[in-house]
This record gives sequence, C-alpha cells and structure tokens, in this order.
Amino acid sequence: MKAAVTATAHYLPPDVISNSYFERFLDTSDEWIRTRTGISERRFLKQGGTSDLITPAVKECLRERGLAPEDIDVVIVATVTPDQFFPSTAATVQRKAGLKNAWGFDLSAACSGYLYALFTAAKMIEAGGAKRILVCGGDKMSSILNPEDRTTYVLFGDGAGVMLLEATEDDSLGLQDAILCMDGAGGDYLYMTAGGSQKPATAETVANKEHYVIQDGKSVFKSAVIGMAEVSAQIMERNNLTADDIAWLVPHQANLRIIDATANRMGLSKDKVIVNIDKYGNTTAGTIPICISELYHSGRLHKGDALVLSSFGAGFTWGSILLRWALDAPKSE
Ligand code: COA
Repeated sequence: MKAAVTATAHYLPPDVISNSYFERFLDTSDEWIRTRTGISERRFLKQGGTSDLITPAVKECLRERGLAPEDIDVVIVATVTPDQFFPSTAATVQRKAGLKNAWGFDLSAACSGYLYALFTAAKMIEAGGAKRILVCGGDKMSSILNPEDRTTYVLFGDGAGVMLLEATEDDSLGLQDAILCMDGAGGDYLYMTAGGSQKPATAETVANKEHYVIQDGKSVFKSAVIGMAEVSAQIMERNNLTADDIAWLVPHQANLRIIDATANRMGLSKDKVIVNIDKYGNTTAGTIPICISELYHSGRLHKGDALVLSSFGAGFTWGSILLRWALDAPKSE
C-alpha cells in the first residue's frame, strides 16, 4: 500500500506587492531583485494569520474531492509562522474548516516543512494509522520580516497549499521514496533571535527588532545550491531514474539561481521545472504545494508522472521526495 495525492488546492491573498513598492523606502531596485532572485512580485496578507491562508485551500481541496469536513482524520500544518504559539494552527484550521473528526499538529521545518509533513503523513497512512490526511503548508512571512532590511524583506511572500493523502493499492503510484536531511549547525545563518523560550519577548527585544528573520544570504545560498542539487540527484540515482523518466522537478522557490543549479545537476531541461517564484516569492512551507496545485489545475500533470520535490531551508533542513502522480488531469482544463 502507498499514500497518494487525491486532491490539491492553494490560496494566495489578493494583495499583490510589486518590486517597485520596495524602491520607495529601501535602497533596492526592481532590476536587482529580478536578476538576483527571479522575483517580480509577491502577495502579502493584510489581515489575519496563517490559518486564514490555509483554511480556504482546505475547503477547496475538500470540495474538489467531494468530501465533507467530517471525513478527514488528520490535519498537519507545516509552518514557521503559526497564528500563535498555541493552540496549534492545525487546531485553528480544524475549527475554521469544521474538520470535526480530525486530530492534528503543526510541524516546524521552515522551507522543508512541506516535505517533512508529506513523508510523515504518508508513513501514517502506510502504517494504517489514518485514512485521509490533509497535508497543509503555508506561511505569512510578511509577519516576521523587517521592512527596513533589504536583504530579507524583498525575498518572501504569503501563501498556502494543501494536498489530501489517501491510500492506494497500486504501489506504483503515490509517495515512492524520500531523503530528508538536517544539519543544526546551519542555525547560525537563518533564524529569528527572540520570542521563543530562550529569549522571550520584552520591550527591549521589540525595540532591538529581534522578532524578524535574520539571514546570511550568501552562506544560505551556497549550502542550498549544494544540498538541494545533491539530494535531488541522489533520489534519481537510487531509484534508477534518468532525466527522461522525470516529468517535473518541483523545487522550493527561494531563488531562481538555486532552482537552475538543481535542475542542471539532475540533467533536466527547463521545460521540466516548475517555477512561480516570479509571482509569489518565497512562501516558505507554501511553495511546493502551491506549485503542485498550479501544475495540476493547469492540466500539466498526468497519472503516473514522476515528480521530484526538493527543498532547502532554515535548520538547515533539506530533502527530496519522489512522488508518482495518481490523478488524471482535470477534465475542464
Ligand atoms: N537590493 C539591492 N542590493 C541588495 C539587496 C537588495 N534587496 N539585498 C542585498 N543587497 C546587496 C548586499 O548588501 C550586497 O552589497 P555589498 O556587496 O555592498 O555588501 C550585494 O547586494 C550583494 O549581496 P550578496 O548577498 O552577495 O547577493 P547575492 O547575489 O548572494 O543575493 C540573496 C542575495 C539573498 C538573493 C541570495 O544570497 C540568496 O538567495 N540566498 C539564499 C536565500 C534563501 O534561499 N533563503 C531562504 C532559505 S529557504
């Protein structure tokens, strides 16, 4: 038995923030942002929290699968921007979407959160511990960005995606393999200083702007290029796949140059790489499910397609998943 995706949906808030917006108050330019990152615009959620990004995607996912909210047994939310420390955002989504029979939890692995959550959910299904799991990934990154820091403010956006996992008896479909990695030494390069148990919020931490993302972009970039490319090549090798066997690379959307390096290492041509960083920036745990939902709804995913999902993020955390798509392309598209 394997765990397969039986529905997917995503949600992006309506407010579009173009690169030129940042030119008004930061020493930056549309040209710099586009050429160094690939980003042209992103979305910022004006009101509400991460649950308000995830809940509409959950409702749409259920609608597409023709299920009632009560039919879900587990909801997992990958995020680094929970609505609050507790209760979990999973509990809030459970309430807002009416998932009365579901238990669930949040999972924190930054940009690799979605891969960690997908693997966890698949193994729960394979072990017979759950039938229908909503695997959600989303972040309201705008809530933890320093508007005065040009090295981080322009990179991220808000958004969420969801996939429903269910068992399939066809072992050639669904989640086939996963390589998940972590190196805690990377914690020195991408982090938030205060607000946790080690350094709780005080007037001083707020005054010192310690509740924002801090990143050594160059170090993260170097590790991301190596980590994401290696793990993606490794999952191909150990499954005896060549570039011809792969339908799509679905990479975490942090920087177009990291994506290109990964595709090159895998020997994949550009037309097999899904890229939407230009429209949404880096939505952290949201990037991979948003990409997959967009691909599916545009009719470019077909039953049996091999997808390699790859990510790199804070921790450091990184990994790669081999997924065989189990749904036919939607009829109307
Ligand atoms: N506008 C204009 N200049 C900027 C800028 C901005 N928004 N942000 C940084 N710069 C400047 C830097 O201050 C630096 O100036 P200096 O040389 O005077 O110090 C210069 O541009 C070059 O900085 P550098 O860090 O070498 O640029 P880069 O080409 O590496 O690109 C990142 C910077 C952040 C885009 C890139 O390092 C990156 O994508 N890192 C990984 C990010 C990531 O993946 N994060 C999340 C993990 S999921």
